[in-house]
Order: sequence, then C-alpha cells, then structure tokens
Amino acid sequence: MGREVNASEEPEGGAASVSSYRLQQQDDGSAVVLAGEGRSGRLHIGPRELPYGQTSTIRYAEIRELWVHESCRRRGIGGELVRRALAWARAEGYERIAVEASARPDRPALPFYEALGFTRRSVVLDLGLSDVSGAPVDGAGSGDQAGEERS
Ligand SMILES: CC(C)(COP(=O)(O)OP(=O)(O)OC[C@H]1O[C@@H](n2cnc3c(N)ncnc32)[C@H](O)[C@@H]1OP(=O)(O)O)[C@@H](O)C(=O)NCCC(=O)NCCS
Repeated sequence: MGREVNASEEPEGGAASVSSYRLQQQDDGSAVVLAGEGRSGRLHIGPRELPYGQTSTIRYAEIRELWVHESCRRRGIGGELVRRALAWARAEGYERIAVEASARPDRPALPFYEALGFTRRSVVLDLGLSDVSGAPVDGAGSGDQAGEERS
C-alpha cells in the first residue's frame, strides 16, 4: 500500500520517492520549483539583479533560495531541484546562472554547487568590527564618498 502524506506531516523520503516535482511560474518572471509540494524542498530562481550602475550583455539568472528538508538531504533532491531550474532558465533564454553561497565550513552550499559544476567567480571578504582595534585610516569619515569620484 502506498504511503500517504498529509500537508502538516513529514516530507517525502528521498529523490527516488519524491513523486512530484512541480515548477510554478511567478508573475514577476521568476519561478519556484517544489519537491513533494514544497515539504521536501524548494528553490526560487529569477533574473539576476545587478548592483546599481552595472550592466551586462549576458542574460543572467540567479538562484535566490534553495532549501531541502533536513530529513531528506543527501538523496539527490537538491540536485534535482537545481537541474529543473537550469532547464527552465535555458528555455527562458538565459545564458548563465549565478548563486550567492555561504563559504562557512559548517554549511554545505559550496560543495553542493561545486558538485553540480558551478565554479567560484567572486569572493566576499568580511571582517567583524569588534575584532579590530585602532584609529580610523586617514580620510575615513571625512565625507569622501566613492560616488563623488566617478565621472
Ligand atoms: C544545500 C542543500 C540544498 C543540498 O541539498 P541535498 O538534497 O542534500 O543535495 P543532494 O543530495 O542533491 O547533493 C548532491 C551533492 O552535493 C554535495 N553535497 C551535498 N550536501 C553536502 C554536504 N553537507 N557536504 C558535502 N557535500 C555535500 C555532494 O557531492 C552530493 O552528492 P553525494 O550525496 O552523492 O555525495 C541542503 O543541504 C540544504 O537545504 N541546506 C540548507 C540551506 C542551504 O544551504 N541552501 C543553499 C543556499 S543557496
């Protein structure tokens, strides 16, 4: 007899047993991919928003959110959600996909995306201000703003 899953209950158990993957097109041009109606996992993909002032001739999409239920991980669900998102993006005419991923050693995002063929293109550097002591460098706080330098 088949296993019944109620909306409030446990997610389905793995990529092989997740009977339903569903893609929902959103009004804003993005898309959501659901595994097990969203209980096992979900992904959100849409056009990449470039930082102010930057333009690109390449059509870039961006994975904005990806999550797989803790009890379903390492069974291929995340990979399947991404593959479906890539197929959607290709069909929509996108040429490349970007994703911002945490590099913390206790987070799986980097090894996960690298296993799917993504490579690192940029790195965000981070510093806790309580970790550094000393006076501010010359010019800091003097109203010198990057925007004023640009022509
Ligand atoms: C990242 C995440 C979506 C992966 O989902 P998943 O269903 O477990 O991934 P898959 O089973 O498809 O894994 C595919 C491959 O990625 C790699 N991978 C996945 N999780 C990993 C981990 N914790 N450590 C090392 N490699 C990992 C492996 O190579 C894996 O293949 P394998 O299981 O045959 O070794 C899931 O761990 C998650 O939801 N994490 C919390 C939210 C998050 O970090 N989201 C990404 C932010 S953009």
